[in-house]
Amino acid sequence: DPGVQVSLKRAVAKKVVELIKPGMIVGLGTGSTASLAIEEMGKLIQKGKLKDVVGVGVSYQSRVLARQFGVKTADLNDVNTIDLAFDGADEVDSSMNLIKGGGAAHTMAKVVDTMAKQCVVIVDQSKIVSELGLTFPVPVEVLPQAISAVLRKLVALGGVPEIRSALRKDGPVITDLGNMVVDVRFSEAIKDPSALEKEINMIPGVVENGLFIGVANSVLVATQDGDDIQVV
Ligand code: A5P
Repeated sequence: DPGVQVSLKRAVAKKVVELIKPGMIVGLGTGSTASLAIEEMGKLIQKGKLKDVVGVGVSYQSRVLARQFGVKTADLNDVNTIDLAFDGADEVDSSMNLIKGGGAAHTMAKVVDTMAKQCVVIVDQSKIVSELGLTFPVPVEVLPQAISAVLRKLVALGGVPEIRSALRKDGPVITDLGNMVVDVRFSEAIKDPSALEKEINMIPGVVENGLFIGVANSVLVATQDGDDIQVV
């Protein structure tokens, strides 16, 4: 039910902005859930309940929304720390390892989320999995000039890679950084996500992949119990 899904995302978005304290530098994630959190953060600022916070967006989407909702922003290179980063995810396992990149923004998200003193992942229950990679492929950002070479290496790793194409444009998705995205499926669940993260990133021409291992410090999950929505 898409209506319930939005309520769950809104609930977890409201919860994460409670963790933001005055004066913090906040990493602003990408996707529908993080977007709601940027909106909720803006509401607190407008009401005067949250002062002197600065947002560092990981994507064009997060920076545009920050401006729209009245969250001041800074460039990542202008800050020397991120106090708290919030971000969505496509899959979360029981060790808080993630697959991200459904929005093709995982490269800068990994920089900001890793830099943050506290990285809080916000998801609804549909994102929780026992093992990574069974439902969602691993997104890989690739230099366009190296796309064929990288595709061959991904096949050699046992993957089935597919260049992501754009919905309202003919041709491939081009990321905020000017690169292509390859979604890689594996026939089985990913047994050693940490090893796979490194192996993929070792392929020349790969910019970054969407396996986030040991990056999240906490995960807030919105669950539905009858008519009741809870965030745990
Ligand atoms: C961005 O590249 C992604 O990692 C998003 O964080 C992820 O796709 C989650 O998005 P939703 O909150 O829209 O599901």
